Amino acid sequence: MSVALAFDIYGTLIDPHGVVDELSKHVGDRAWEFSNTWRDKQLEYTWRRALMQRYENFPVCTRQALDYTDMLLQTGLDESAKAALVQVYRVLPAYDDVPASLQALADAGFHLFGFSNGVEEAIVGLLEHAGIDQYFEGVVSVDALHTFKPDPQVYHHFIEVADTARENCWLVSSNGFDVIGAVSAGMKAAWLRRSQSVVFDPWGVEPTLVINGLEELKYKITL
Ligand code: 2OP
Repeated sequence: MSVALAFDIYGTLIDPHGVVDELSKHVGDRAWEFSNTWRDKQLEYTWRRALMQRYENFPVCTRQALDYTDMLLQTGLDESAKAALVQVYRVLPAYDDVPASLQALADAGFHLFGFSNGVEEAIVGLLEHAGIDQYFEGVVSVDALHTFKPDPQVYHHFIEVADTARENCWLVSSNGFDVIGAVSAGMKAAWLRRSQSVVFDPWGVEPTLVINGLEELKYKITL
């Protein structure tokens, strides 16, 4: 039986806070505060744009969230600083557990896909830069549908592209809203708890599986 794993990208395989070193050069000890606000605002913009049906792609949401954060925190970034930050966003690092875990899953016969709000070209670039692109059969981007996670359409689109029975399609994500979106749309979902301090939204919709590291997947999902 073929099992398709849809890996969320930002926050699951690729660390969006990999911008903190570059941010430190521009905003000093406010780098973490900036990075957290930037990420929260980026996601908020995707949700609002999906709800309003005013789609602009993920790079636009990211750039507008950067401009907003700069204004909110009054950090006075100039255009060259913003360009440098956007450039770092294109080469963000993978988390440490990613390469070996993906290799083990691919060797075991799972079908791996990237599945992201990001545009395909940026996701392919990140996977190549991290040296993990060879493990994936494809990248499925919400950009094809002009909406964002957790719109049910994007999970149905994944199931269609993966060409695998719905009960064998798993989302793997550290983002709780993504996990709830996938389960609500009929997929299975593993919530990757990258930090013990994060909590899951108490909506009464539970992850199929909770893992504390990607290496656990291979043992917890049956092929
Ligand atoms: C992603 O789709 C939600 O940022 C997350 O990659």
